[in-house]
Amino acid sequence: MVTETSGGVAGFVPFAPPTTWQGWDRFVHTPPAEARDAADAGWTQSEREDYHSELSVLRTPAMTHAFTAVRRLLLVNRRQQTGARRGLIISGPATTGKTTTMMAMGRSFHLADQLKHPGAVDRRPVLFISVPPAATPKMLVSEFARFLGMPVAERLNQTQITNAVCDMLCELGTQLILIDDVHLLDTRRRSGAETSDQLKYLGERIPATFVYSAIDIDTSPLLSGVRGAQIAGRFKIFRNRPLAYGTAVEKETWHELLRHMEDLLRLRAHRCGSLAGHSAYLHARTGGCIGSLSQLVREAALIAITEGTERITKKLLAEVELDAAAEAQARPRRQRSQGRPRNPARAIGPLAVNE
Ligand SMILES: Nc1ncnc2c1ncn2[C@@H]1O[C@H](COP(=O)(O)OP(=O)(O)OP(=O)(O)O)[C@@H](O)[C@H]1O
Ligand SMILES: [Mg+2]
Repeated sequence: MVTETSGGVAGFVPFAPPTTWQGWDRFVHTPPAEARDAADAGWTQSEREDYHSELSVLRTPAMTHAFTAVRRLLLVNRRQQTGARRGLIISGPATTGKTTTMMAMGRSFHLADQLKHPGAVDRRPVLFISVPPAATPKMLVSEFARFLGMPVAERLNQTQITNAVCDMLCELGTQLILIDDVHLLDTRRRSGAETSDQLKYLGERIPATFVYSAIDIDTSPLLSGVRGAQIAGRFKIFRNRPLAYGTAVEKETWHELLRHMEDLLRLRAHRCGSLAGHSAYLHARTGGCIGSLSQLVREAALIAITEGTERITKKLLAEVELDAAAEAQARPRRQRSQGRPRNPARAIGPLAVNE
């Protein structure tokens, strides 16, 4: 049924990204879908598919370390009203969970702040933005303004927007500023260099702890030259690596992750422990990358539901095509051990939009 939304557009529910206050607030206060009993007849297939499509975020050891690092920095910075406050850069290869870690960290801090300041609805303890492509200093600070819902008139110049943003963030008690994808700032180009200067300036004006995420910061130009030296002197780097599978401890960590992921599954005929039983295989397929593992397990679960088998087997896992990076790293090993391509046409049931 088509319903009328408050905005007056029939059936259209506007999507607010978490890089706006409205979207962030929704992210913080929307718990993951409830895990019901797989046999519950009142749980429709569509709801069960949604549940597996979302699947909760797991607390990985890397996440725990990053949380601890930020908690310590917040303490160290608490009485530093001016100058070089310390920050953190979450660095790592693509899809290792940098954004997820950052957002989970923001949510946890936000909820803790809410408990400390009950009823203070005007507070904005956390700000989360992404560096826009080909950013200029004005574009970057406009992202801050957009998060806060401040109207940015064309005629306002960079200094005016910056002053308004800094004043507002101080007023709103913002203490944690999360900036995703800072590797997009190419400091070898003028606009990238100026935007990185703008970030540094904001870090000095706003009494908050800054956390950046970046793909492989060590090899990015962001830390080189005079500008880079200033960032390197203020920021700790947390390296978010794919999970390894060499030592007994590493294997146990990987097993545990699989066990937690398996616990989340709600399939009617799944044999508990079978995912953990394919631990080495799953590591070889995904390279220990949580993004690839999450895709593999969720897609296999959705195929199991739509095809009615209701269980994840190694055969099914082998039929799911992963992202190009995971496939490329797994190929040499698979060619040696199998020499047989997977069924490329396996799809999740008939294509249905908004069923
Ligand atoms: N702790 C986790 N538990 C469950 N799933 C996770 C976890 N961390 C990441 N994922 C899943 O892995 C995928 C990639 O995560 P994310 O986008 O956070 O990675 P990223 O490192 O920021 O990637 P990119 O470098 O492309 O920006 C997402 O689908 C996310 O849901
Ligand atoms: Mg990301």
